[in-house]
Amino acid sequence: MAFARLSALVAIALAASQTASAALTKRVTCSTGHVTANAACCALFPIVDQIQKDLFDGGECGEEAHSALRLVFHDAIGFSIHGGKGGGADGSILAFNKTETAFHANGGIDDITDRQFPVFLETGLTAGDFVHLAGAIGTANCPGAPRLEFKFGRPAPKAPAPDLTIPEPTDSVTKILARFADAGFSPSEAVALLASHTIAAADVIDTTIPGTPFDSTVGTFDSQVFLEVLLKGSLFPGNGAQTGEVLSPLHGEMRLQSDFAISQDPRTACFWQAMINNQQLMMAEFKAAMAKLQVLGQRNLIDCSDVVPVPKPFTSAIKFPATFSKKDVQIACPQLPFPNLATVAGPAPTVPPVSPRLLEWGDE
Ligand code: HEM
Repeated sequence: MAFARLSALVAIALAASQTASAALTKRVTCSTGHVTANAACCALFPIVDQIQKDLFDGGECGEEAHSALRLVFHDAIGFSIHGGKGGGADGSILAFNKTETAFHANGGIDDITDRQFPVFLETGLTAGDFVHLAGAIGTANCPGAPRLEFKFGRPAPKAPAPDLTIPEPTDSVTKILARFADAGFSPSEAVALLASHTIAAADVIDTTIPGTPFDSTVGTFDSQVFLEVLLKGSLFPGNGAQTGEVLSPLHGEMRLQSDFAISQDPRTACFWQAMINNQQLMMAEFKAAMAKLQVLGQRNLIDCSDVVPVPKPFTSAIKFPATFSKKDVQIACPQLPFPNLATVAGPAPTVPPVSPRLLEWGDE
């Protein structure tokens, strides 16, 4: 009797697990031939192609891709787990761009909202789905990036986010971590999100040198930024010291005050250092923290992650820029061994700017 009951229980458990795994492996073939987990995602494949063509020059990791990722952050972070702020990852930054681009921390963001707005209207997506799909696609264009998730079905945003939710490079680490905590992120998750600065450049910190990258490999999602932010600074790349920047180690490179402060702070320094030359750790941590960011304030979304293009891998070891070595590192985590890295041969580099697309846009 007991045995009969046990085997009945086992049979039920087995059936349940088979149903669960069938649900997990269920696949739909769309009329376009794409295969996806949910029929609702089929509509997105042509939109992905359109966004690649109309926004990202056919799939490049250029300025628009970088800015699309920045836009994801500036949209989503207008949120508090305690309530009373904005709707999170709701696309309010695009839908209410006149209001939100006027916020001080959104300097330069109007370039990408202006660029995205007509494409957004053509796709028929809600502003939130558009901003967060474009961010995932743009990031995927950068070799070494993880394939970010994309969840589909955000309602139209109700209102602009309030001002002063976006961290500024002049903020103290305590203030930055408090803002991240208020939005639901730990100090380690904040560091993980800053991997984004490996495909980033500044236009408005020093307006005399637009497109000045934060690391020497701005077209690759590698861990170079975590290394270069730790190198001793000796120069300002443009018109002297500007608000929000600190001395940079390389000509043509901008070092943000906040990135440097976070790299040195005891709450974040070891996680920062652990990212260096650890591509897999960086990708996994960034992807996980981004997955939270991309759905802040949203519910009941459909997982359409399989519409996101698969990024090219980055498998090389990172290196010190030419003439730099371990003696130039401002180590802030003595508890962890610093990785052994080779140095690029030759004279110290001048990092070239990310080329602006403004002329091309004007030509269109
Ligand atoms: C402490 C938090 C952060 C601060 C203070 C900060 C600050 C900045 C600043 C000042 C710029 C340059 C703006 C300009 O002069 O044009 C920038 C660029 C950028 N940021 Fe951040 N950021 C932070 C976190 C993040 C996060 C969490 C992400 C994404 C998940 C992100 C993604 C980017 C990207 C991709 C760019 C480059 C945009 C482009 O090249 O067009 N940032 N950030």
